[in-house]
Amino acid sequence: MLTLEGISKSFGSVAAVKDVSFSVAKGEFFSLLGPSGCGKTTLLRIIAGIYESDSGSIHLNGQSINQKPMRARDTALVFQNYALFPHLTVFDNVAFGLKMRRVSKPELAQRVTEALELVRMAQFAKRLPGELSGGQQQRVALARAVVVRPSLLLLDEPLSNLDAKLRDEMRGEIRSLQQRLGITTILVTHDLQEAFAVSDRIAVLRQGSLQQVGTANQLYDAPASQFVAAFVGHVNLLTGKVARVEGSNVIIDCGNGLAVSAPADGLAWHAGTKAWVSLRPERIRIGDASFDGGSFDAKVAEITYLGSRVDLALAVNGVLIRADVPNLGQFMPKPGDMVRIGWSRDDVIAKPDGGE
Ligand SMILES: Nc1ncnc2c1ncn2[C@@H]1O[C@H](COP(=O)(O)OP(=O)(O)OP(=O)(O)O)[C@@H](O)[C@H]1O
Ligand SMILES: [Mg+2]
Repeated sequence: MLTLEGISKSFGSVAAVKDVSFSVAKGEFFSLLGPSGCGKTTLLRIIAGIYESDSGSIHLNGQSINQKPMRARDTALVFQNYALFPHLTVFDNVAFGLKMRRVSKPELAQRVTEALELVRMAQFAKRLPGELSGGQQQRVALARAVVVRPSLLLLDEPLSNLDAKLRDEMRGEIRSLQQRLGITTILVTHDLQEAFAVSDRIAVLRQGSLQQVGTANQLYDAPASQFVAAFVGHVNLLTGKVARVEGSNVIIDCGNGLAVSAPADGLAWHAGTKAWVSLRPERIRIGDASFDGGSFDAKVAEITYLGSRVDLALAVNGVLIRADVPNLGQFMPKPGDMVRIGWSRDDVIAKPDGGE
């Protein structure tokens, strides 16, 4: 439904977007996630037609839209700061796009009311934006975007001006509105939890380049790079060299006596190949069980008690490993204690180290 191919954009000497390609399916909720300055807004504005890309093509519903002006693109954009017209009532703000499209008066009134009902703002129709809370203004901005029934809804950090509680609430509302309308949506966010909570798929960007596209689960459990592994959650990242391959296992020597067994995952491993290893803190177990990924003696360096969970910094021959384990109750170790730790082979991700 939306396809980007080889999109690049520079501002002077700054390459803001570099050779980005991806497709978004009809009805999909797709997010662009990445740190500040990685090019998310630039990419969204290229899709909206506010910026022209330097190269590449964009197709919406099978038609090239590169040359189409913003108004002709059948997209609607919601900004971070709502940008409602301050002198127009809520009703007139939402009606604005329909008036521009010369929709008849009775149809206009019906569609505006419907859109306001969708975002639970119908009773505020006569108010001015200045008489609304931030969350209410954001709802009006959403109604104003969906009332024109765009093929594509573009949201640029629409929740970042709201406090944490309202943000959580609005997050759920945006997702349910998107589901009810079946509207294809692209959300820009630097907030991992937000992207995970609402998206069907997520594209991770770094310095203008696309790193990986996948479901939240794929990004978390099958990251393509060390950057993605670290960006989507806490992680222990180790580097080392392949010691040997044993059937479907690869054993990576990370130094200091840390030999880690990982699924070979169909990759062409050779002894001596540089590799990186990623292991999520919550997959590390404390105890003397037999673990097929590796088990080690570790010295407790630091312990942070979080109630239901405990965060541990563990030193294995001087290498610090972070573990996030359920509350250990009466077996709670103290700094300086020695414990036995281990993990399952299937919880280890190993990849050749391309030297990112
Ligand atoms: N109009 C512009 N003129 C010059 N440089 C720009 C312009 N817009 C963006 N840039 C630069 O392009 C890069 C990408 O910016 P962009 O706004 O797309 O990032 P972002 O991922 O949306 O960041 P944030 O999360 O902070 O909003 C940055 O280095 C930024 O400084
Ligand atoms: Mg931005």
